[in-house]
This record gives sequence, structure tokens and C-alpha cells, in this order.
Amino acid sequence: MTYDALAVRSHFPSLSSGFAHFDGPGGTQTPRQVAAAIALTLTRPLSNRGSGSLPEQNADNAVTVFRTAMADLLGADPHGVVYGRSATQITYDFSRHLGRSWNVGDEIVVSRLDHDANIRPWIQAAEHAGATVKWVDFDPATGELSAEAVTAQLTEHTRLVAVTAASNLIGTRPPIAAIAAAVHSVGALLWVDGVHYTPHASVDVAALGADFFVCSPYKFLGPHCGVLAADPALLERIHPDKLATSTEMVPERFEFGTLPYELMAGVTAAVDFLAALAPIGGSRRERLVQASIALEHHEAGLLAESRPGWPLCPA
Ligand SMILES: Cc1ncc(COP(=O)(O)O)c(C=O)c1O
Repeated sequence: MTYDALAVRSHFPSLSSGFAHFDGPGGTQTPRQVAAAIALTLTRPLSNRGSGSLPEQNADNAVTVFRTAMADLLGADPHGVVYGRSATQITYDFSRHLGRSWNVGDEIVVSRLDHDANIRPWIQAAEHAGATVKWVDFDPATGELSAEAVTAQLTEHTRLVAVTAASNLIGTRPPIAAIAAAVHSVGALLWVDGVHYTPHASVDVAALGADFFVCSPYKFLGPHCGVLAADPALLERIHPDKLATSTEMVPERFEFGTLPYELMAGVTAAVDFLAALAPIGGSRRERLVQASIALEHHEAGLLAESRPGWPLCPA
């Protein structure tokens, strides 16, 4: 399956600026279609969410199609898709929501392969609860973090394991499905940082076994925000502090205040842009999977060119 990089480049005005963008953590550049969707949402009639008038319907529609788009991208349930300002903000919020039920003697597991956004919030929440923090190391020779290394830190007291699906520094990918099986065997929850995994792999949250999967649309052509995917039934069991007037509904319960409808429309446009890269027809989910396979292949080719001897398709 081919990926026409030259044709795709033409949709990115910033790529004619003369800069070469090598900074993955700095985020992707933005295609015209995403900027247009943001502008359109802001310039047509818009109000708070509702069903009575066109401005209300436009706001409501932006939210609904955003959840469906992200569910298609992540293989998730749209009712479990939570919007946030960033992956960091979502992780901080949930570390507090979840940490409220932790006690002295409970154990939280974090990894040395992770970005601090998936470490510090859990350490601080554990400190507040009097819970113990345990660390998982990666193999310094290979940069790989194994399921065995995670399993060695698990006990009957483990409440949550936080681990990345792909290292932002070296690109290694821990075996999340095997880690999930081990974590669930002791009755704990698995929080997966998918910020660097999502732009480089086809995500299937259910197949990964992640209880929570967080990502950042600005790392895959969208605007600056964060998204969480989780099972709605699990979200129903979590009760954050919130305003008396705000809804108890899931996932809205976790999205404080008025939502940025324009950014949500930008995320939807980014997902549609990615789906349009697929060389085949089919449902948007099917096209996203195919597009991701094509992109992964293209990236593997670039990697092989720059680092002869590296595996063509990193596991
Ligand atoms: C692996 C990883 N996790 C989390 C984050 C934080 O994401 P955000 O900027 O959406 O808070 C980053 C940021 O670069 C990251 O690289």
C-alpha cells in the first residue's frame, strides 16, 4: 500500500514556510481542512449545546461527531470519549478522581520509560492518599519495557498501573495487551499514555486492553487538546467533583464548563483527513486502519533509510 507524501504535503500551508519540522513532541503541522473546520464552526450560528435552535444544534452536533470520530480512530465507544485541554490535564484530573478511593497500603505502578505527564500526576495522587509508588524499569540496552518487568511489581495491593504505549524519546512500544492481562489478573486498572503511539499505529483500545487510553490530537494533525477513551461503564463508576448545575451524564461529567466546539470540529476534520489517506473505501474505521498501515509502512521505510539495520516494521 502506497502513501503519496508529495500530494499530502500540498494540504499543509506551513510546509511552504522553508522550515523542516523534525520535532515530533512539538506536534504536527495543520492541514487547511482542519483550520477551515475550526473557522466554519466559529463563524456559523453557534451557542451552547441544545436542540431548540440552529445555533444550539450546531454546538451539539460538533460534540457528537467529535466523539464518533475519535471512537473510530481509537476503536472505542463514543460514549466513553472524553474531551480535555491536553493529555496532561486529563491525566491530572483522573489521578485525582481515582486517587480519592486509594488508601494507605495501596500501590500505584509507574514506569521509567514514560513522559512525566504519565508519572507525576500519579505520584502526587498517591502521596495525597498515602499509597505506595512502585517503578518499572526498561532494559537500558534495548529501551524495551517488558510485561515481565511490570508483572514483577504487581501485588494484590496494586490499584493502578500507568504506562506508555510508545516512548516519546526512543519510540519503543511496550507490549500493552500482555501488560493489560497481567494488570487485570490482580484486579488493578491500566492507564495507557497513547500520545506518541496514536500518530504512528492503528489504535484498538479494546484489543490493547487499556482501561484508559489518552492521546493528543495536535500530535496527529488536529488542534491543541487531549482526548481520553474509556469504557463508559467504568466511567459511570467514577465521580469527580463538579458543579451542582452540571450534568451527571457520562462522558460529560468529566468535561468541566463549556466545551470548545470549534476545536472539537477541528479534531473531527483531522480524523477525516487521516481516513481520506486510505487507498480503499469502507467505513471510516476501516479507512483509518488502512491509512495507519500505509503511514506506518512509509515511516518504517524512512527509518530504514536513516538507520540501516533497524527492523523495517518496528514491533
Ligand atoms: C508521551 C507523551 N505523553 C504525554 C504528553 C503530554 O501531552 P499534552 O501536551 O497533550 O499534555 C506528551 C507531550 O509531548 C508526550 O510526549
